Amino acid sequence: MEPRIVTLHDCQFSTYIFEEEILARIQMLADEINKDYQEKNPLFLAVLNGSFMFATDLLKRVTVPCEIAFVRLSSYKDMQSTGNVKEVLGLVDDIKGRHVVVLEDIVDTGHTLQGLEQQLLDKQPASLEVAALLVKPECLQHQIELKYVAKNIPNDFVVGYGLDYNGIGRNLRDIYKIVS
Ligand code: XMP
Ligand code: MG
Repeated sequence: MEPRIVTLHDCQFSTYIFEEEILARIQMLADEINKDYQEKNPLFLAVLNGSFMFATDLLKRVTVPCEIAFVRLSSYKDMQSTGNVKEVLGLVDDIKGRHVVVLEDIVDTGHTLQGLEQQLLDKQPASLEVAALLVKPECLQHQIELKYVAKNIPNDFVVGYGLDYNGIGRNLRDIYKIVS
């Protein structure tokens, strides 16, 4: 397919993962989840803002009975040995004893996810897994088990399909990478 270029703020981005590929990969994740979570009534926790499109397209393909909640991570920073830990906001559901699946847009160093997982584990879920749209394996600094990953990518800055560059680009239906 012909590459498309968009300009966001002062940077140019070129199409990188087309919507068709994104949706095909999300269907594969949904197939695995549907197999793994029969009779488990999973609770999906989508991390806003970045995961809104991923969560929507994944959940449309989940066929097991499930519940969905949305959380945000504060910009509040508490210095811990692992780095800056953000507080989870908006979690009203009691996750004790529940099978929780966190939906994340992109995992880079893994700091964010590590902090989030620790806060969720303190609430004693029956199980806790992560479904990530994108992972940058060469940037990972933590040993985190990422059970469901749509696509591994190199260390390029990407936007679109929920991901933003300084607030814009989230509505793009394809994923773009910065033109070097
Ligand atoms: P860590 O390092 O904590 O980072 O795993 C995860 C968060 O960093 C943001 N991030 C990106 N956002 N394009 C983006 O739009 C990228 O290429 C990118 N890499 C990391 C994102 O908020 C993610 O949740
Ligand atoms: Mg995010």
